[in-house]
This record gives sequence, C-alpha cells and structure tokens, in this order.
Amino acid sequence: MIEWKNDAGVVTLTMNDPDASANTMNDAYVEAMGATVERLVAEKALLKGVIVTSAKSTFFAGGNLQLLSQIQPSDAAEVFATIEEVKRQLRTLETLGVPVVAAINGSALGGGLEIALACQHRIVADDNRIEIGVPEVTLGLLPGGGGVTRTVRMLGLQDALMKVLLQGQRMKPAHAASVGIVDEVVPAAELLDAARRWIATYDGDAKQPWDRDGYKIPGGTPSSPKLAAFLPAFPANLRKQLKGAPYPAPRAIMSAAVEGSQVDFETASRIESRYFVSLATGQIAKNMIQAFFFDLQSINAGGSRPSGVPKYSARKVGVLGAGMMGAGIAYVCAKAGISVVLKDVSLEAAERGKEYSEKLLAKQVAKGRSTAADVEAFLSRITPTGDPNDLAGCDLVIEAVFEDGGLKQKVFAEIADVVEPDALLCSNTSTLPITALADGVDRPDDFIGMHFFSPVDRMPLVELIVGEKTSDRAIAQAYDVVRQIKKTPIVVNDSRGFFTSRVFGTLVMEGAAMVAEGVDPVMIERAATQAGFPAPPLAMLDEVTLTLPQKIRDDARAAGDSAGAFDDHPGMAVTDRLVNEFDRRGKAAGVGFYDYPADGPKRLWPGLREHFAADGDVPLVDLQERMLFAMSLETVKCLDEGVLRSVPDANIGSIFGIGFPPLHGGALQYVNAYGLTAFADRARELATTYGARFEPPALLIRKAAAGEIFC
Ligand code: NAI
Repeated sequence: MIEWKNDAGVVTLTMNDPDASANTMNDAYVEAMGATVERLVAEKALLKGVIVTSAKSTFFAGGNLQLLSQIQPSDAAEVFATIEEVKRQLRTLETLGVPVVAAINGSALGGGLEIALACQHRIVADDNRIEIGVPEVTLGLLPGGGGVTRTVRMLGLQDALMKVLLQGQRMKPAHAASVGIVDEVVPAAELLDAARRWIATYDGDAKQPWDRDGYKIPGGTPSSPKLAAFLPAFPANLRKQLKGAPYPAPRAIMSAAVEGSQVDFETASRIESRYFVSLATGQIAKNMIQAFFFDLQSINAGGSRPSGVPKYSARKVGVLGAGMMGAGIAYVCAKAGISVVLKDVSLEAAERGKEYSEKLLAKQVAKGRSTAADVEAFLSRITPTGDPNDLAGCDLVIEAVFEDGGLKQKVFAEIADVVEPDALLCSNTSTLPITALADGVDRPDDFIGMHFFSPVDRMPLVELIVGEKTSDRAIAQAYDVVRQIKKTPIVVNDSRGFFTSRVFGTLVMEGAAMVAEGVDPVMIERAATQAGFPAPPLAMLDEVTLTLPQKIRDDARAAGDSAGAFDDHPGMAVTDRLVNEFDRRGKAAGVGFYDYPADGPKRLWPGLREHFAADGDVPLVDLQERMLFAMSLETVKCLDEGVLRSVPDANIGSIFGIGFPPLHGGALQYVNAYGLTAFADRARELATTYGARFEPPALLIRKAAAGEIFC
C-alpha cells in the first residue's frame, strides 16, 4: 500500500493501493500509514528527508465514500477514533524533524490534499488534468483530516474559508499555487528531481510554520481588528448565500475554522474531528454522496447508454433556430470544438444567434479567462445562415425552432436530403411528445428528443427522450454528444412533458395552489428556499410564463388525454385568472406573480393578497413537504410508468434540471431517506387535507410493503 525506498537517506513513500484503481483512506491505508510513520520515527536519525508520492494516476482520491456513506449515528465514537488516528499519523509525519515534501503527480482532492498539507512543502506536476482542493463541502462534509486546521494556519481564516473550504473548488495546479496551497508547479518529468532538490537544499529546522516559535495565523485571529470587522457579517452572508437552506456543512466548516483559530493546533484538530463526525453521521451527507458521487458516477460511466454501439463523436452540427435556445446550443457545441451551422429564417436572424456567443466570450476575455485568439478560433466554428443547403455534411442536427409540431416537421424536411444520410436528428422540444414528432420525419429511428435547459451554457443537464421508434444507435450517439459537450445526460422514455417538465410542473402548480388557498405568497417562496430549493415556485412559474400550463392543458385536451396535464389541479384556477383576468403572463411580459420594476428588484404583486383568498393558514412544514412530495410522487409515477429508466437518472435529473433541493440527494433519494412506509403514510395524510394528487402511487406502496428502497 505504501512502498518505501531509501536512496542515500532520502525515503520515497509511494502510495499504491493494490486492490483499487485509486488510493483512498480505507482501513488498509490507515494500517500502512501507521506502520510507515512508526518506521520513520525509528529511523529518523538516519534520514535526510521524505518524499510522499503515488504510483496511481491520481495522487490520492480522498476519503472512501463507500465507507463514509454507510456510517450510522451509533458509529460516531468509532469514526472519531479512526479520524483521530489518521490525523495522529499525519501529525507525526509533519513533526518528524526531517524535511517532508509532497510530490503531487496527479489529482489531490479531499484526503489527498490533506496528506500533502501535512508535508512541509508541496510540489505539483504541471498538468491541467490535475485537480487540487477539498471538495468535501459539495458532499455535505468537511475536510476532517486536518484540512480545516492547516488551511486556516497557512492562508488565514478569510482566504482559507473563501478560497478553499466553503466553495470546495477543484483547482488546476497554477490556480492552487496562486491561492497558496501548493508551493511549486514543475514539469511532470522533473517532479521527483524537484522534490529531491528541495530536500538537498533545505536549510534549517524542518518544521511547519505553525510549529515555530512566535507563529501567528496570517490575517490574525477573530479578536484582531481586521477579522473582528469581517467575521460578524460572515454567518449572515452565509445564510444569505444559502437562502436559509439547512445545509450543515458550510456552517460546520465555518465553526471549525473560527473556533480552531483561537486554540492550539491539537485542540483545533480535535474540534475539526468532532464537526466532521457530526456531519458524517448525519443524513444530508449521505444524500449528497449518493447523488453527487454514486448517481453521477453511474450516469457518467454510461449507465443509461445502450452498449454495443461504437463511441460517437460529432464533427459538424446543424442547429435549426437561432433563438434563445438555439444560440445557447450553438455556443456549447462550438466550445466543445464541434463545427456549427446555425440556421434561422434569415441570415440576419442567425447572426443575432451568433452574437450571443460573442457576448459570452467577451465576458470571458474581460475576466481574463480567454484570449482574443481563442475567441477568434471559437467564433470561426459557428457559421450563421438562412439557407438549409448550408447544412451539407452535418452528421448531427439539433432543432430549436418555435414550439410548433408542424413547423418542426417542416424544418426537418428541408434538411432531410442535405445532411449526411445517417445524421442523428434531435429536437429540443420541451413539451411535444417525441413519438408523434418522429412520425413526421423521414428517419424516425434516427430521431430523438434532446432537451436542454435554459441558460444552456450554465445548466449541466440534458434530457434525452426516446420515442417509440428511436434506435439504440440514436440513443447511444445522443448520449455521446451530451458527454462530448461536457454535460450530464439522462435517458427517459417519451411521455407528455417527459420526466423533467412533468415533475417541474407539479412543483410550480403546487405553489399556485397555495395562492388559491390564501397562503401569503411571501411565505410560499420563503418556505421553498428554506427547504433548499434554489429558486421558489412562483418566481419559476413567472420564468416559464403562466401561459405554459394552459398550453399544456389545452394541447392535452385536444389530444383527448388530459390526465397528468394539470386539468383538475387547483393551481390552474390561479394561473388562468392571472392570465385571463389580469393579463399577467410572467416575467417576459413584465408582470406575473411578481412585478418587475425597471429600477429595482422584482417583488410579489400585492394584488395576489387582494384578489385571492388571504386567510390561508398552512403550517410551514406542510408547505415544504407539499412541494417536495409533489415532485417525488410524480417521479415515482414516472418510474412506475417506465418514463424513467433508472433511479440515478431520477435523482440527478431532479437536481440538475429542475432544482430539487440538492441536500436531499434527488427526488427518489428523498423518499429513501424519509423511509418508504413513512413517506406513503404522510402522502395519504396530505391527500386527505390537500387533495387526491398526493395519494401514494402503486409502486411506492408495493416497494414499501416489500421493505425495498429505490436503487
Ligand atoms: P425562440 O423563440 O427564442 O427561438 C426560436 C427561433 O426559431 C427564432 O429565432 C425563430 O426565428 C426561429 N425559427 C422559426 N422558424 C424557423 C425556420 N423555419 N427555420 C429556422 N429557424 C426558425 O424560442 P426558444 O426559447 O429558443 O425555444 C426553441 C425551442 O426550444 C422550443 O421548442 C422550446 O419549446 C424549446 N425549449 C425552450 C426552453 C426555454 O427555456 N425557452 C427550454 C427547453 C426547450
């Protein structure tokens, strides 16, 4: 696990877990590191220095998430003892009295960086694939292997919190060096030589700065004047940033850092361990590890991609429609190096779509993230046009014209004989069933829904919708395209509203239903943000426009199938009245649930309290659970109906596409954590009080009875 090589008094420790592709902090590591530090102590009189490096392509992957996700509250004492042992070993290493240097040959994240921080010097290979940081906060944890204690002592409270701990950023080597958590960046081939050179030229006491006499934390402690001004505002800023959502990790990190900065190293380290244990034994870390590690890994590993289809890489894409979505799609494709032909009704309209990329790129140049030469190369990949014949040679087509089935079929017909004969045909429709659309195109087996989210450059999800005739080849190729443009694909079967729009609809319409009941709209929005929703329901309904639910209902009625199209939803009475009686259609129209004054932030329309019941008294927990349950119940229905093909797709799709609170780990993980039986019981209670839409679906009842969970 840790190879030992002594070369004239310089010991190179090479971490190499024989049973895994990456080194993690498992039992074998703890045992091996324990034996290694014991030997170092025994032989230290003969040693000139120690180099810590790795035989894997990553330096060290960090904590073992498989183990971490199984920790129960009753394991608290054992977890505390283990983490203290890990830290005792690293403390022994850094206080050995001989120079210790980390030669970081690959990514050092979480526990990996913590090992490096316990070395007195950190040298990293100059390779942009390397990521350095402590991303624990993104998994509901804190860096409990000394990460908080040491970064605070290296960088000071403010920088440690703001630049390293609270964002959980994964930094490239140069960035890590500029922040100050690594000391040198050298060419990969010279890494070990640089480490040896550092040892050979080391002159003085081999100690960490914080173990030297007279050491003071950079920037001072909470009682120093500068920090005394900064710290009191900090919890309030954090609360604002989290919008009141109950995320325990950022708070625990801040407490561990501030409390730890006022005591000696050993006490700080123990405080950090206590906070770590409280997070690791809690439910939120489990939810976040499930979603952001296991579910994401399963999706990225091709969980939903049909096997047996050769890997595909798009060369030239034709984007039909250069409006808001088409312009964004052109941008993300060009960013991935794909040539783009961007077509609209006229060259001028297409050029306006290209201007969107120019604007985004100009911002990047202004921020120093891109150069004029990069921008020129980027823009040269986008060819605007009004002529369908310019799509010659495209092996991929993504359509984003107006939401009109007839028009969509017409634009596909225009390019049918122009593009490559086997080009993949994708539609970005957000509401039209894919099977029906596919019936109007030449090659329905090559046709698939590719549903992006707005704004395309920022939203990480793409929902792929499989029509009745869509072939496995088309699914696999569409999956590969989404990975090529560095987004996360979920694959669902066709249904009205697919998965995301359907489930999103239940959330925003629940918000509207609460208005109908007379709940104060301010309370509705606040309940949502405090439950962890990144955006509240009435504001989101304004974004998508209040006529959308009407359109979905009317289309569904016209198709003779209004089940699930909100036809009998109590929220519909509110959107209908706002549109028909008050002409308040949402943000684009300038008025909706909110007013959007030109000179200030949006605010809820006071008329909501005048024109709708104003005496609703619904407990906060009911407001919050109604939103969460509405989405989770609809997700279970999607799984039951076969619209969803996998549980990871449900969890990730709900977080990345439609704002299900990340702290719950996704719409089905929320049900798992609630307990299926308890969830079904509570759903029945909500159904009794608020309406039959909360009745638990058959699949939930079956799984609860069988003692199963969604996995
Ligand atoms: P938009 O109105 O901004 O853009 C549509 C564009 O299509 C316009 O530039 C229009 O000139 C162009 N167009 C019309 N006829 C054309 C033709 N014959 N050939 C080429 N271009 C033509 O609409 P937006 O918002 O970009 O939506 C486009 C599609 O994406 C719709 O199907 C919509 O449902 C879907 N969608 C929209 C989302 C959103 O948040 N706006 C999210 C996900 C999907």
